[in-house]
Formats: sequence, structure tokens, C-alpha cells
Amino acid sequence: MSDQKEIDLRAAINAISDVVQNRPRPIRNFDQIYMKAGDMVLQSELVARWADEKRLAFIGDGDAISVCAAYLHKRGILNYGPSQIVVFDFDERICGAVTRFADKEELGQLRAELYNCLDPFTCDTRFDCFYTNPPWGASNDGESVKVFVQRGMEATRYTGEGMVVMADDEELEWTKRVLANVQEFVVRSGFFVQKMMPQLHQYHLDDAPNLRSCNVIIKALPVERALEASVAITSPDRLAHFYGRDNPPRVKYVRERKRLEYGKAHDDEYSFELWE
Ligand SMILES: C[S@@+](CC[C@H](N)C(=O)[O-])C[C@H]1O[C@@H](n2cnc3c(N)ncnc32)[C@H](O)[C@@H]1O
Repeated sequence: MSDQKEIDLRAAINAISDVVQNRPRPIRNFDQIYMKAGDMVLQSELVARWADEKRLAFIGDGDAISVCAAYLHKRGILNYGPSQIVVFDFDERICGAVTRFADKEELGQLRAELYNCLDPFTCDTRFDCFYTNPPWGASNDGESVKVFVQRGMEATRYTGEGMVVMADDEELEWTKRVLANVQEFVVRSGFFVQKMMPQLHQYHLDDAPNLRSCNVIIKALPVERALEASVAITSPDRLAHFYGRDNPPRVKYVRERKRLEYGKAHDDEYSFELWE
């Protein structure tokens, strides 16, 4: 891994601010709930260090941690970062925002693909690691988290590492159940939990402003395993409460209606009252 240098905090925060300006507005119905800016700075530094010189797949990334990691590296604010980053998201606005930012800032290592994680994962690249901040599975004991994690493990062909962001709150019992179930699932899938960083991040979430999430870092066991083809996820048991109680996935892709100028007010948001 490259030698680390001191980070210019002001430059890092200003760079994250450029990325935040570029993000589409979150759709709460699909659990798009954005991480707060200070936590994004620390999280993207951590991800850039963890995935230094590696091929990294993001299974969903409304937060734009992918963009931050690539941009901080490109601007020389960090002297480490992934060699290749692909964002797989079902929201065309998010994919478009990633692609346009990457074009504008010449981030050659970053691209996005429109992908719904209920479809088989068929990308040809074998990634070294994956990152996901999935729907947290409060109403299905973590079943939604498992779907995103499964796609991440498939992206590494069950040989790499993953960073999974999950709710982690001392007061909320469901978060403990989800953490336990997901850990059990990854162990059953031939991975182990290498590290757990508790209660790290906060979100722009009106109804639970203090809810935090943790990073769970997982790693594949060094064993040979026969790879099965990735298949679609259709089981009603897994999907019934995917985005919350009785809220199964009905949408295959969120389509971008018009090209948005992020960071600028849209003309359907305001009207002018003129001087007489
Ligand atoms: C579910 S949100 C979780 C909260 C996280 N802080 C965020 O907003 O990015 C994470 C990302 O997953 C994407 N996503 C949701 N459902 C998906 C699906 N079925 N397939 C692929 N991506 C999905 C969202 O568009 C979003 O970008």
C-alpha cells in the first residue's frame, strides 16, 4: 500500500462538498437516506485506504462514497485509492450523476452501471472487494441486507472482501437481530467477519436523526469452492418487506426524466413574482 500522508482536512471537506452538490435528491421509499457530510469524509478516506489499488464494486451507492474516494485520490488529497470502481445501482439518476462527475473531473477509474440487485449479477470483472450500504432490513430481520451482500460476494466470485454498512443502535433491538442474522449469513456463505467498527455514521433521517450505522468488514475464507451461476432473487419470503413492512420491490429501475443540473434549483421548484 502507498505511503500515507497527512490529510488537508479543509481540502477534503471542500471536495466532499463538490460531490454532495452533485447528488440527486433521495427517494425515501427506496431507503435512499444520505450519510452526513462529516461522516462521508471519514468513510471515503477509510474506503480508499481499505481498497487501495483494488477493483471495488459498489452495490448501490446513493451516498456517493465511490465518487468521494475516487475524487479525493484524483485531487491528491489522498495518495491512495482503488484502481477501479464500478457503481451498480437501480437508480438512473444516481448512475448518471456518477458518470457525469467522473467525466467532468476525469476520474478514469470510476464508472456506473444500471443494475437491480434482484437480477442475476453478470458483470465480467472479478472484483477484489465490494462495498454496500443496503436497505437495513428493520422489517425483515436483515433479509434486504443479505440480498445486497450476496451480490457483493458474487462480484468478488466469493474470493474477496466486503464492507457492509448496517444500522447499529444500542437502544434498538432490531439492529442487533439484523447484525446477528447477516453475520450468520456471511459465515454460511464462506466468509468471516474480520472487523466491526460500531456506531460510526449518522444520516439525514427525519424520523430517526440519531440512528447510527457501523461498518462490518468481511473476508472470504481461503477455501476452494465451486462457483454457481448468479440467479434472480424472486422468493416472496425474501422480498415481502424489502423496503419496509409490506413494501416489496415493485420498481425495476428509477428512470431519469430529464438531465438535472445538480446543485442548482430546478425550474419546477420555484416561480417568479415580477415587479409591476
Ligand atoms: C438503499 S440505499 C441505503 C442508504 C444509503 N445511505 C444511500 O442512500 O445510499 C443505497 C442505494 O441502494 C440503491 N438501491 C435500492 N434498491 C436497489 C435495488 N433493488 N437494486 C440496486 N440498487 C438499489 C439506492 O438507489 C441507493 O443508491
